[in-house]
Amino acid sequence: MRVLIAAPELLRRVAELAALVDADYRLAGAGGGSPRPPADPLVAVGVLKGSVFFLADLLKHLTVPVAVDFLQTASYGSGGATRGEVRIRKDLDLSIQGRDVLLVEDIVDTGFTVRTILDLLRFRGARSVRLCALLDKVAARQVEVPIDYRGFVVENAFVVGYGLDHDERHRNLPYIAVWEPEIDAGTAAAAERSASAMQTHHTDRAPAAIGPYSQAVAVDGWLYTSGQVGIDPTSGELVSGGFEAQARQVLENLRQVLASAGCGFANVVKATVFMVDLADFPRLNALYGEAMGDHRPARSTVQVAALPKGALVEIDFVARLPGQLS
Ligand code: PRP
Repeated sequence: MRVLIAAPELLRRVAELAALVDADYRLAGAGGGSPRPPADPLVAVGVLKGSVFFLADLLKHLTVPVAVDFLQTASYGSGGATRGEVRIRKDLDLSIQGRDVLLVEDIVDTGFTVRTILDLLRFRGARSVRLCALLDKVAARQVEVPIDYRGFVVENAFVVGYGLDHDERHRNLPYIAVWEPEIDAGTAAAAERSASAMQTHHTDRAPAAIGPYSQAVAVDGWLYTSGQVGIDPTSGELVSGGFEAQARQVLENLRQVLASAGCGFANVVKATVFMVDLADFPRLNALYGEAMGDHRPARSTVQVAALPKGALVEIDFVARLPGQLS
């Protein structure tokens, strides 16, 4: 997950917001001229569940008398006729008539949730209603809402942490992050099993790999060979005799590699042939046809600028391991 707002930055901003709220609600009563009495607390209304972390930290900084209550909403319809329909799932416990109310939200996204709640709070006869939102996803807004205290503007991404969830997870992260799909334990274990199920094959009857690779790797019932060039495994040198001699050696090397995994040419499903001169194509086909007999695996043949050791031809195979043929 990509961290968008780190924990220290988050807490610093929450403290700043609290200082603003504290100052604005310090006074109350007739004309708003005397210190707020305990009998007339600010009513902080959190919207469950996302706002609880923010609300808790915000309120810890307040010095004005404050009462706390919660609302919970349910949204219906992400499109069509019910778009934006927000219902109250859990109502307030306190009466807010004649009270100063501060609605505390973790995020304003489309704006439908706070728009509905603000209307309700005013309808209930609150003396004043203001909105304090930690995050403002401006680019997603569909209805106008005035945000009196705003923590951060965030990009139009799915954010989690510090109360915000994805499928009820990640609310407990101490920072805000952009949600990204995780590889769950099952998938990770399967990937690990698959990696450990890879088996490398080697035979001294074919040239050893001359780099960080294997002569062949078997996985999930398939054998993938590395490309073979016309090197004699005994001398470690390209055979002399030009294209035909090299092509014969390539096929012999591959035959040995296949054999080390219990396969033969009959198991080959796909071949790739690299040649430095496609003019050798007919000669290749003659030798290749001899080796394959009646078997006709799929094949690609391409001309390349150069091959290792100055070879004229290189071939690799994909083969189905015996016992996997049905
Ligand atoms: C989230 C968030 C806001 C609302 C914002 O709540 O906490 O209340 O969505 O979206 P809006 O601006 O598009 O209306 P949610 O319904 O996901 O519930 P939660 O807080 O329990 O996660």
